[in-house]
Amino acid sequence: MTTMTAAYGPWGIVAGGSDGVGAAFARAMAARGINVVLVARRVPVLKETADTVSLEYGVQVRTVPLDLAAPVALAELAAATADLEIGLFVYNAGSDDSTADFLDRGLPAHLSLVRRNCVTALETVHHFGAPMAARGHGGVVLVTSGAAWAGGATRATYGATKAFGLVLAESLWAEWRGHGVDVLALVLGRTDTPSLRRLLGDGDAPLGALADPQDVAEEALAHLGDGPTWIAGGPDPTGASPLGALSRRDAVIAMSPR
Ligand SMILES: NC(=O)c1ccc[n+]([C@@H]2O[C@H](COP(=O)([O-])OP(=O)(O)OC[C@H]3O[C@@H](n4cnc5c(N)ncnc54)[C@H](OP(=O)(O)O)[C@@H]3O)[C@@H](O)[C@H]2O)c1
Repeated sequence: MTTMTAAYGPWGIVAGGSDGVGAAFARAMAARGINVVLVARRVPVLKETADTVSLEYGVQVRTVPLDLAAPVALAELAAATADLEIGLFVYNAGSDDSTADFLDRGLPAHLSLVRRNCVTALETVHHFGAPMAARGHGGVVLVTSGAAWAGGATRATYGATKAFGLVLAESLWAEWRGHGVDVLALVLGRTDTPSLRRLLGDGDAPLGALADPQDVAEEALAHLGDGPTWIAGGPDPTGASPLGALSRRDAVIAMSPR
C-alpha cells in the first residue's frame, strides 16, 4: 500500500471518465495504484478507456454506463459500487459543447445541464462523501471552470452550474477538513478535450493555448490537499479569481462575447 492508496484508495470513481480530463484522471489515479470506476454514456469509448487503463497500469477497472443527467443516476451508481470502498471521488462530467443565448435553447437542455452538474453532483458527493468522513480519510474533486467566476452572455446555465460546483466544493472543504477528507474545487481554463473541440467546431481559426488534460489531472492529484480551490495552470493557483480586481459589471462584460 502506498501513501496515495492509503489516503485515497482502494477505489476511486471518475464520473465522466471515458475521454478528455476524465480519462486523464483515470490514468493518473491508476498510475498511483488506485482501482477506478469509470462512468460515461457511450459504451465503446468507455470500454476502450477502461481496457487501456487496466492494461497499462494493472489496476482493476469497472465501467458503469449511465447518463448522469438522469434522475436514476445516483441509484444506479450506488448499486454498481455498493461492494467497493471508495476513497476518491472525482465529478468531472460538466462541459457544454455548444453555446447559445438563453432563450435560443429549449428548457430541457438547460434542465439537463442543471441535473448533471448540480443535482447529480450533489447527490453523489453526499453519497460517497459520507463514508469518507466517517472513515476519516478520502478525497473529492469537483471539476469546475473559469465560467464560474462571473456571469456572461451565451453561458448562463453552464456558468451558473459551474458556480454551484465551485461553492459546493469550497463549502465541503471547510466542513470536511476536520474529518480528514480533502475536497478540491478544480478550476479549469481551456483544455484540449473532445468536448472543447466539438464546441470550437472544425473552423481554421487558431485554437490558442490549450492545457493538456493529463497535465491538469496530474496537477490536481498532486494538490488534493491544497484546497479549497485550485486554478489549474494558473500563475497563482490558490489565489483569487483573475477577475477579482474588476467590478461585477466589468467582469460580466469581460466574460461576454463581443
Ligand atoms: N475542456 C475545457 O476547455 C474545459 C474548460 C473549463 C472547464 N472544463 C470542465 O472540465 C470538465 C471536463 O470537461 P471535458 O472537456 O473533458 O468534457 P466533459 O463533456 O465535461 O467530460 C467528458 C466526459 O464526461 C462524460 N459525460 C459527459 N456527459 C455525461 C453524462 N450526461 N452522463 C455521463 N457521462 C457524461 C463523457 O462521456 P460520454 O459523452 O460518453 O457520456 C466523457 O467521459 C467539465 O466539468 C468542464 O466543465 C473544461
